[in-house]
Amino acid sequence: MVGNVVALGDKVVLISKHDKRKYFIEVEDRSQKILELGVYNPNKLVGQKFGSLIRLGTRDFWVLKANFIDTIDTLKRKAQIILPKDSALIGLYGNIHSGSIVIEGGLGSGALTIFLLKLVGETGKVTTYEVREDFAKYGKKNVVMSMPKQPLNWDLKVQDITHGIQETEVDAVVLDIPEPWNAVAAGYSALRAGGILVSYIPTMNQVENMVKTLKEFPFIEINSFENLQRDLVSKTGATRPAYEMLGHTGYIVFGRKVIEK
Ligand SMILES: C[S@@+](CC[C@H](N)C(=O)[O-])C[C@H]1O[C@@H](n2cnc3c(N)ncnc32)[C@H](O)[C@@H]1O
Repeated sequence: MVGNVVALGDKVVLISKHDKRKYFIEVEDRSQKILELGVYNPNKLVGQKFGSLIRLGTRDFWVLKANFIDTIDTLKRKAQIILPKDSALIGLYGNIHSGSIVIEGGLGSGALTIFLLKLVGETGKVTTYEVREDFAKYGKKNVVMSMPKQPLNWDLKVQDITHGIQETEVDAVVLDIPEPWNAVAAGYSALRAGGILVSYIPTMNQVENMVKTLKEFPFIEINSFENLQRDLVSKTGATRPAYEMLGHTGYIVFGRKVIEK
């Protein structure tokens, strides 16, 4: 339940009225260094109504409970993250929902993991394989920091996913690693029949490799696409697409497991 006022333990976002910049804050009773805002003890926010404005120094900020987009907008990142326009489709076409059992390859900064955990909810489970100890630490901090409470339905394994997946009968395997075709055999073994393997891939030649490998296994409905999102600038009588857009992020490749082809 989202209370009406800020309480200790809440994850909130401050949105600048002036330039709409966002600042993610965990409401704890200790002074924190908040980028550009200086040292601040967020316990001063306790009791503040969500949606109201507060003044910090010379600027006004709206106080809101941080939602998924706020989390991604403010996430500290070390590696390229999967943006909401792509993670949304990974979830949709990967058939990932409340109660799903999901394997993820490549934690990185944890952006996709946070989304997967939100999708599967407390009745589902996400197991993430990350080969690098430093990324495991970094991404874990981001994931734990951004969830309302410590996620008990998340396992993080510091292992190379191409060497095998211990879990079986899973609903989806999601890969964001440099050579995902090397994890197709492991993904196939882990999936239940009808389960979906999804991979997020930055270049076309990698898409070709991935599709070729998926075709070597009993996968059907092998599809690839990219999702282009163009923002609109909306002004009465002059609404038009923004002049600038993010032209490329990654391609998404899917396959659905069957047991014979
Ligand atoms: C681009 S990052 C993932 C970003 C993440 N999806 C996000 O949204 O923040 C790729 C990650 O995959 C990890 N990785 C690379 N090869 C791997 C493998 N064979 N098994 C597990 N993790 C791997 C890298 O160490 C890196 O942390």
